[in-house]
Amino acid sequence: MSNTFEAIKERESNLLCHTYGRYPLAVSRAKGNKLYDLDGNEYLDFLAGIAVCSLGHSRDDLADVMAEQARKLVHVSNLFYQEPQLDLAEKLLSTCAAGKVFFCNSGAEANEGAIKLARRYMHLVRGEERHEIITLEKSFHGRTLSTLTATGQTGPIKDGFNPLPEGFVTVPFGNVNALRGAINAHTAAIMIEMVQGEGGVRPLPTDYVNDIVALCKENDILLIVDEVQTGLCRTGRVWAHQHYNIVPDIFTSAKALANGLPMGAVLCSDETAKGFAPGSHATTFGGGAVVSAVAAKVLDIMLEQKLADRALDLGEFARRAVVELMEKHPGRIVGSRGLGLLFGIELAGNGQDIWKGLLARKVVCNLTQGTILRLVPPLTIGEDDITAFMDALDDVLGSLEG
Ligand SMILES: Cc1ncc(COP(=O)(O)O)c(C=O)c1O
Repeated sequence: MSNTFEAIKERESNLLCHTYGRYPLAVSRAKGNKLYDLDGNEYLDFLAGIAVCSLGHSRDDLADVMAEQARKLVHVSNLFYQEPQLDLAEKLLSTCAAGKVFFCNSGAEANEGAIKLARRYMHLVRGEERHEIITLEKSFHGRTLSTLTATGQTGPIKDGFNPLPEGFVTVPFGNVNALRGAINAHTAAIMIEMVQGEGGVRPLPTDYVNDIVALCKENDILLIVDEVQTGLCRTGRVWAHQHYNIVPDIFTSAKALANGLPMGAVLCSDETAKGFAPGSHATTFGGGAVVSAVAAKVLDIMLEQKLADRALDLGEFARRAVVELMEKHPGRIVGSRGLGLLFGIELAGNGQDIWKGLLARKVVCNLTQGTILRLVPPLTIGEDDITAFMDALDDVLGSLEG
């Protein structure tokens, strides 16, 4: 570690609020699926800015779109009509069954918008006082007060922020009876991730999802799907809910939308969209011309290059590689899970040393829930990159055994 790194660390601690437990790495630049530290050392990136840079880092084609749009129009606010926003909306809506979209700036903001829309739809369109949102344990929906309350986790994430907003209920994962029991006359919606990302890369079982959809229909309540992490080809379909052949009333997107520029979206049916009217919801920056132009280009590239199919194939390649590692290092790995390139390797115990060992070998991924290595690389990687990752993991496991 260079002196400069220590200096940066010290500088940051004097300047920024201490909200992040950062990795011991200062990134000076990134290209494709590689990160470079201050000394020019190269790291293999299996994190992609936490499932954000799905097309890889610092692309010239996206930089060109960004620069061109920035010279024409950057920001005028949502008081005006803007075509880049509409071009993007058309493209996004062509990928799913939703009829309308609202653009914002982050995942939490998209989920906040989804919650507001569900409540207002019930109030305004249905004339019912249904405001409660049911979520699942271990879910993650964001850090604003409402999305934090919706998040099915405890600990530092929630400590000290009371009073949290009313109107949220969390039920155990996988338990349909608990879900049924939580629905009452005030329930507006059930909100789920198709694969819980932060919660340990846990895909929802198909039967469970079918039961959730049936409960929503029976009780005439809305289904909200949080696709902030799963969205945009990562899981092997453009949207993860398409694996399950379901049509949510509302779903949200963010992370990968503009490949690193901040953007979020709430997508919903035409019916549900009736809940919003002018003045009911807004954001100054949402759907600005530059992010919209970039996001439209991102979607074009993803669809042209069939990156969803690629994610599915590479996920399967990774799964087979993990089986080989399990044979080579018995007792160390429990298995793998996930969908496509939202890929989790479940370790037999706390994975901190393994994660550190990978970083020491210049391989970056994330450790979630203490035992799950979460791999969310750019979707543009090849089998050789997965092999390089698995070789590094093999080496780490060998060194821990040796
Ligand atoms: C499923 C899910 N929802 C919401 C969020 C929050 O997104 P943001 O950090 O952009 O607010 C995240 C972030 O990790 C997420 O994974």
